[in-house]
Amino acid sequence: MPSHLMAVYNRADVEVDRGEGVWLYSRDGRTFLDCVSGIATNSLGHAHPALVAALHEQARKLWHVSNIFRIPGQEDLARRLTQNSFADVVFFGNSGSEAVECALKTARRYHAVNGSPERIDIVGFAGSFHGRTYATINASGNPDYLKDFGPRLPGYEQLRIDDAESIEAAIRRPTTAAVIVEPVQGEGGARALSEQWLRHVRRLCTENGVLLIYDEVQSGMGRTGKLFAHQWFEGLAPDIMAVAKALGGGFPIGACMATAEAAKGMTFGAHGSTFGGNPLAMAVGIAAFDLIAKEETLANVLSVSAHLREGLERLAADYRDIVEDVRGKGMLIGVKLIPNNREMMATARGHGLLVAGGGENCIRLLPPLIMTIEEADEALVRLDATFAATRAAAAKVA
Ligand SMILES: Cc1ncc(COP(=O)(O)O)c(C=O)c1O
Repeated sequence: MPSHLMAVYNRADVEVDRGEGVWLYSRDGRTFLDCVSGIATNSLGHAHPALVAALHEQARKLWHVSNIFRIPGQEDLARRLTQNSFADVVFFGNSGSEAVECALKTARRYHAVNGSPERIDIVGFAGSFHGRTYATINASGNPDYLKDFGPRLPGYEQLRIDDAESIEAAIRRPTTAAVIVEPVQGEGGARALSEQWLRHVRRLCTENGVLLIYDEVQSGMGRTGKLFAHQWFEGLAPDIMAVAKALGGGFPIGACMATAEAAKGMTFGAHGSTFGGNPLAMAVGIAAFDLIAKEETLANVLSVSAHLREGLERLAADYRDIVEDVRGKGMLIGVKLIPNNREMMATARGHGLLVAGGGENCIRLLPPLIMTIEEADEALVRLDATFAATRAAAAKVA
């Protein structure tokens, strides 16, 4: 049957039906251990009872109103986010891309109202991913995502993480507005930036009046064992931060968070969204936040991710012909492979395990933060079987 959908996704042959906790069930009766979690989104697992209850309760009261009215849930979620971070103010959208868009606009606007409208340049990094809108593909600079969409937008450049000289020159340039960086690169292959690197860039930005934007769309909301990944390091807060994915536990929410100073250009009329921060999203977001921010949840991320990491290192030692490197932070884990990662994802599906792809030929494991040790062991058993099957298939060909 011909599909009436735009063919922009390379979809796996799994027609999903329902989910519960770490498990995803397909229409044809297969059961999968889900280490994709909507790509780091369903962080409390599928159909978490507290989120389901929050959604039901709000659905009976009020789904949607325009932002021309006051929406109490927005104040409640913004209070939680600001009380637990560097930020003073929040703008709610519906996705990670929108959160990043708002961050980019906030940065440029800051300089405009500060009397420096020439400061428009956004300095990003190779291997980053900031979304799929025009501004965000320009901020990431991945040629595959820019191809055939006309000229690049002015004022965006990407540097290599290890090109210290160019980074310093770019931040010192008087036309630079902001640096945007993922403290742990997600799609780029689960690469955690070092404290030393982040500290250097933070210092350069502060010294030169350049704003620092963290994209914590994937690394935020508990994924690394802290509420936000940069909170692993003292004194390394950004000026602006984009958050999404797990913020809604599977319900579409994005948030741009900023200090009052950085957000001073975001005055009446500067930005907006029809759906951003609607009552349904806020009800689920508040329930998700309260569970994710709990000490027990973050402690679980640390213990289960350490267990997973240990198991993965063991597998890496057993399968030197398959695994090149295990990397990442907390439950944002990358396994850099020698065989093709897309084929490995398909083989894993055949063994009832869902893993995501990533840059540098990685597979990514992004399990729900509530995964138990037993479930982590089951994921390792299934990955072991996946690698064994890959090795056996390679031996057959040889
Ligand atoms: C770090 C990062 N930023 C931005 C985005 C874009 O988010 P969305 O797909 O919700 O627009 C993603 C999505 O994967 C991401 O990982």
